[in-house]
Amino acid sequence: MALALYRKYRPKTVAEIIGQESVSVSLLNAAKADKIGHAYLFYGPRGSGKTTAARIVAKLANCEKRAVDPEFRKKGEPCNECRACREIDEGRALDVIEIDAASNRGIDEIRSLKEGIRLAPTSYRYKVFLIDEVHQLTKEAFNALLKTLEEPPAHAIFVLATTEYDKLPATIVSRTQRFGFKKIPVGKIIDKLKRIATAEKIKISNEALEVIAIAADGGFRDAESLFEQVVSLEDKEITLSEVERILGRVGAVKTAVMAEELITRNKEALVILSEIASEGYNLNQLVKDLILYIRRVLVLAYNEKMEDIFKDEMTPESLSRMKEMAKNCDKQKTVELIRLLIRAYGEMKYSPFAIVPLEVAIVEALKE
Ligand SMILES: Nc1ncnc2c1ncn2[C@@H]1O[C@H](COP(=O)(O)OP(=O)(O)O)[C@@H](O)[C@H]1O
Ligand SMILES: [Mg+2]
Ligand SMILES: [Zn+2]
Repeated sequence: MALALYRKYRPKTVAEIIGQESVSVSLLNAAKADKIGHAYLFYGPRGSGKTTAARIVAKLANCEKRAVDPEFRKKGEPCNECRACREIDEGRALDVIEIDAASNRGIDEIRSLKEGIRLAPTSYRYKVFLIDEVHQLTKEAFNALLKTLEEPPAHAIFVLATTEYDKLPATIVSRTQRFGFKKIPVGKIIDKLKRIATAEKIKISNEALEVIAIAADGGFRDAESLFEQVVSLEDKEITLSEVERILGRVGAVKTAVMAEELITRNKEALVILSEIASEGYNLNQLVKDLILYIRRVLVLAYNEKMEDIFKDEMTPESLSRMKEMAKNCDKQKTVELIRLLIRAYGEMKYSPFAIVPLEVAIVEALKE
């Protein structure tokens, strides 16, 4: 594969941004009215589309077709064909300046930024400054940025992005238009990976995609790079067990089977555990997955409305299986089971054999 998937399949229009409806609606409305703001703050988890949306803002502001064709402008999208759109997509636009505050934390960077801001754009209407991980700037750098945001020149647009909204000074936040990005539901991640698989002519099962989507924890970036890791096998038909092996982590189906045996206090749990261990999976990850799984069963057993929250974190098949378990579980014993697993997890780090504390916990849980 010549191009990294995350770059090849990065959304190029507002309409292609998945799962961020309120952000998309506001951006479209601003673009249709030709009212692109001067300072945006995009916050939310990694891989949710902040940089993607920032590049789209840069195109909306500078698209040459939008500037001359009012009919086209009403669409609220960039044309993706003019020179500005193409340069921005390819990351070689001189007037779109991306600064990673995680590696450029200092006042010097902001000072040279301030100087750069005063200069007019070289070839576009607007200079767009994208400051990523903005919460990492030093106090002095924040003060310099604040001064700039107080009186931004008419030709400058700022897009600040962060995964840690709470670490930003209120003075900065209040001078921006805020857009909150959310984690992406598992189902939507699977859908996009399926589309990529089709386009790249790769055969991969839904269960295999589910493992990747869950490991990505609501972010497309990890989903796409894990997917890429898996498909680089030179193998055009990818199975669940290959994906499990590469990620070192059992999928939702095996986790569910194991959880079921534990909840119903079935001795088979020990057999399944030793099989999983002998296949070389990371047992720490297995216990974490089990704790998370059984905790959800317990919560569902107490309040079935929690389904609304969990449905974003798993597939419909996995959820209905979990609901069935919740109906039949002994709540008190399930609480005890979770406690035992949490204790085992703590002990596994110090044990010469990770499997032993886990087996002991299971034996305790199986006792009547
Ligand atoms: N909302 C989304 N819809 C579709 N693809 C997305 C979305 N968010 C992220 N991606 C994919 O993940 C990659 C990384 O996203 P990016 O915008 O850099 O995330 P962030 O800046 O929030 O960490 C993109 O290139 C794109 O392929
Ligand atoms: Mg980013
Ligand atoms: Zn354009």
